[in-house]
Amino acid sequence: MQIPFFDLTRQNQILEKDFEDVFKKFLERGKAILADEVLTFEKNFAGYTSSKYCLSCANATDALEMALSAMKIGHGDEVIVPAFGWVSVVSAVLSVGAKPVFVDVMHDGNMDPQLIEQKITQRTKAVLIIHLYGHPREVREIRTLCKGRNIRLIEDCAQAHGARVGGTHVGNFGDVGVFSFYPTKNLGAMGDAGAIVTNDEEIYLQILKMRDYGRNDKGAFILPGRNSRMDELQAAILNVKLPLLDDWIARRRSIASQFNNVLGSYIKEDESVWYKYVLTTEHRSAVINQLKKAGIETGIYYPFQLDQLPFYQTGKSPMVIAQKLSQTTLSLPLFPELTNEEISYICEELKKLELRNL
Ligand SMILES: Cc1ncc(COP(=O)(O)O)c(C=O)c1O
Repeated sequence: MQIPFFDLTRQNQILEKDFEDVFKKFLERGKAILADEVLTFEKNFAGYTSSKYCLSCANATDALEMALSAMKIGHGDEVIVPAFGWVSVVSAVLSVGAKPVFVDVMHDGNMDPQLIEQKITQRTKAVLIIHLYGHPREVREIRTLCKGRNIRLIEDCAQAHGARVGGTHVGNFGDVGVFSFYPTKNLGAMGDAGAIVTNDEEIYLQILKMRDYGRNDKGAFILPGRNSRMDELQAAILNVKLPLLDDWIARRRSIASQFNNVLGSYIKEDESVWYKYVLTTEHRSAVINQLKKAGIETGIYYPFQLDQLPFYQTGKSPMVIAQKLSQTTLSLPLFPELTNEEISYICEELKKLELRNL
């Protein structure tokens, strides 16, 4: 059996008729930018996340940059970021002229709250966390830490659509939550797209202008902006998919729980939205090769540390866990359209490896 790591064509086939309708409507309306579909998506996604405001934009990397700018974070400021995860958190901080200060992560890939305090200085303006792989753990603890010190909290929810902690959707713990709708995400567009959620009116009003060349509702350019807008087609695709997200998450959880039964992960099925199912092994290459021979494709998220990027190195890395994860993690195929037969086959092949997860 050949099992791909991810296959968007399966979802496209299921939704083909809906997408054809979307395109037909788009052709009839003739409106491509900041029109009905975008406004509908923003309203629906704000509703889905129970956030006061949602602003769509071109991608999550832009969203991070705009969030930092809207909070007036820039030259001379420090932003605490995880030493492991996706590169956008570092590039966004650097692009506004601030300094990323790295904190090591825990075994699940999320920033270790116990290590944050020692990195706080007079210059610390924000903590930027990633809910890596869709596990939003420790966010309440980090929020308390930030609130007590008047430090902003930005949640990178690019991998955590639909994740809730104590009933609250991620993105509402911090000042801002940032989402990516890159096509492989739990909620994905057909190209690049992103969004920001916030309950802070001032931040909302800033980003509302910033994403549209810095223009206000009268057409005057009142702040330095950019062009970062989600287009109508992407919004229309997301409007088709959003009502299906909870069912897809349920399916992801069911698949993860079957992998957990074999591997014994400490992350319980409902503690995550399972953007990725990650396991760690000291024998990564051998495991990847063995699964490959069995026809199972795997991925590595991620084979690098953020504190060791070639364009922004911080010297020899003291980030022990980040380093370990970059060398030992691998991800199994996990997407809602995997068939039951494929899932059972993966489980059987995992049993042969006699692995245990973290
Ligand atoms: C954690 C995280 N942050 C940010 C991003 C960037 O998202 P985008 O590609 O929409 O800019 C991604 C996408 O891969 C991500 O996984």
